[in-house]
Amino acid sequence: MKKSNGKLNYNIAIFISGRGSNLKSIIKSSLKKKTLYKVKIVISNRKKAEGLLFAKKMGIKNYFFDFTKSKKIGGRVLNLLKKNSIKLVCLAGFMRILPSYFIKSFNGKIINIHPSLLPKYKGLNTHEKVILNNEIYTGCTVHYVNKFLDSGKIIAQRKVRITKKDTVKSIEKKVLKIEHKVYPKAIDKVLSNL
Ligand code: GRF
Repeated sequence: MKKSNGKLNYNIAIFISGRGSNLKSIIKSSLKKKTLYKVKIVISNRKKAEGLLFAKKMGIKNYFFDFTKSKKIGGRVLNLLKKNSIKLVCLAGFMRILPSYFIKSFNGKIINIHPSLLPKYKGLNTHEKVILNNEIYTGCTVHYVNKFLDSGKIIAQRKVRITKKDTVKSIEKKVLKIEHKVYPKAIDKVLSNL
């Protein structure tokens, strides 16, 4: 359970659907040995998710599960988490709503990152909504996952200033930059309270 630097080493799983820039930052932080976790497995609901290739390159076990296909998939994923002694599931751009029995079975041990200052702007297209509402600040939130979309208890939040010149693209870039800093720290915060 201990890393070479004497810190505790909890196994975590990352669920992704695409690019995986958060996945990369979470893995890179753990390689600097500054974290309490080790990314043991990566799971994607999209076969061609870029993040899966990165996991492979880093020698991390990676899996594709078609969550739409069968109700049994959740059970198979839960078995995999158990087999790998996973203490925490981190959703990072995972674009599927997990079945409620899955959330129940892993109760309080699933977290997500969302690109807005929750409770504002749940769901998709957050940056568009931020612009439409003439917000001066936006940001990111790490929160526990419950059965309601983007509604679980907040773990960490950070804001960034935006200006009238900002576009969806430039806001996305600013927000992602802070996401990459906030998520690894939030994971450690959760693990240190287990
Ligand atoms: C991030 O903006 C995250 O907040 C949201 O989906 C995006 C995933 O980006 N849930 P990436 O795949 O980590 O690059």
